[in-house]
Amino acid sequence: MELAPDQVWRLLLELRCASRALETLPDPVSCGLTGDGQLALVPAGDAATLIEIASNSFWTARVPVPQTSAELLDLYLPMALANRQRPFTLAHLGQSLDGRIATVGGASRHINGPENLTHLHRLRALCDAILVGASTVECDDPQLTTRRVTGPQPVRVIIDPHRRLTAERYLFQDQTTRTLLVCAEGLADQPRPGHAEVMGIPHDGPRLPLREILRRLHERGLFGLFVEGGGLTVSSFLEAGLLDRLQIAIAPLVIGSGRPGITLPTIEDLSQGLHPRHRRYVMGEDVLFDCQLRN
Ligand SMILES: NC(=O)c1ccc[n+]([C@@H]2O[C@H](COP(=O)([O-])OP(=O)(O)OC[C@H]3O[C@@H](n4cnc5c(N)ncnc54)[C@H](OP(=O)(O)O)[C@@H]3O)[C@@H](O)[C@H]2O)c1
Repeated sequence: MELAPDQVWRLLLELRCASRALETLPDPVSCGLTGDGQLALVPAGDAATLIEIASNSFWTARVPVPQTSAELLDLYLPMALANRQRPFTLAHLGQSLDGRIATVGGASRHINGPENLTHLHRLRALCDAILVGASTVECDDPQLTTRRVTGPQPVRVIIDPHRRLTAERYLFQDQTTRTLLVCAEGLADQPRPGHAEVMGIPHDGPRLPLREILRRLHERGLFGLFVEGGGLTVSSFLEAGLLDRLQIAIAPLVIGSGRPGITLPTIEDLSQGLHPRHRRYVMGEDVLFDCQLRN
C-alpha cells in the first residue's frame, strides 16, 4: 500500500488536534491505519504503525510514500505539531521574479498560481492564528478562511496600530471565525469595529513590539502563528528574530515596480545577508523556498 495525500492530510489535521489538546505528544508519535483504512495516531508499539514522527518534525515511514504525500509531511508537520511546548511562527510571501509582492497601487491577487493558494489555505487550516498588517486589509479586504481545503478556521489577527481600518472591512463583519484587532494601547477603548475583539499593546517607539504581541497570542492559546503578509509585517517579524520559517513563493512574472517583499536594514557586505537552510518545492508554475530560520 501507499500513503495517499488525502490520508496524510487527515493525519495532519488529527495531529494538529492532538498536539493542541495533549500539549505534550509522545516522542516519537506513531501513526498507523485504523480498521476502516484511515491513517490515524496509534498507541506506540502497535504492529500496524506506518509512520513515526520525532519531535523535531522528521518522519520515517515503513511503507512507500509518494512524493506528494512526502511533501505534505515535510511542509506541514511543524505547524501541525505547534503547541505550548513548541510554539511555531511561519511567514509566507508570494513574489515576482523581481521581488515584488504587489503593484504600487496594492494589487496582488494572482501573482502566484492556484497550487500556491491551496498551500496558503492548508497552512491556515493547521495554524491557530493568521496575522496580517493593516495595509493588506486595506488593499485586499481579504477573507482569510480555509475554503479550498477541509479543516478548521483559524483566528484572524490584524495589526492596525492607529485604527485606520473602517468597520465595514470583511474581517470585521464576517463571523465565520474570530477576528482580533491589535492596536496601540491608547486606542483600545474606542468602540470595537464590527464583531472584532480589540487588543491594546503598550509601546515606546513608533512600532508595536511584536514580541509582546506574540506573547499575548500565546497567552490566548494561539501557538501556531501564520504571518501571511504583507512585506512590511513579514520583514518586521524577520528583523525581530521571531520567525521559525520563512517561505517565499516565486512566480515567473516580472512586475518591474511595486511593493517590495522583504526589506531589512542596509548591509555592507553580502556575507552579512541571511543564508538560511532551505528546501525547494515546485508548486505549479511557482517555486517555493521553505527557509528554516530556527530549529
Ligand atoms: N504577495 C503576497 O504574498 C502578499 C501577501 C499579503 C499582502 N500582499 C500585498 O501587500 C500589500 C501590503 O503590504 P505592505 O508591506 O504594504 O503592508 P502590510 O505589511 O500589509 O501592513 C503594514 C502596516 O501594518 C501595520 N503594522 C505591521 N506591523 C506593525 C508593528 N509591529 N507595529 C505597528 N504597526 C505595524 C502598520 O500600519 P500603519 O501603516 O497604520 O502604521 C504598517 O504600515 C498589499 O498590496 C497586499 O495586496 C501580498
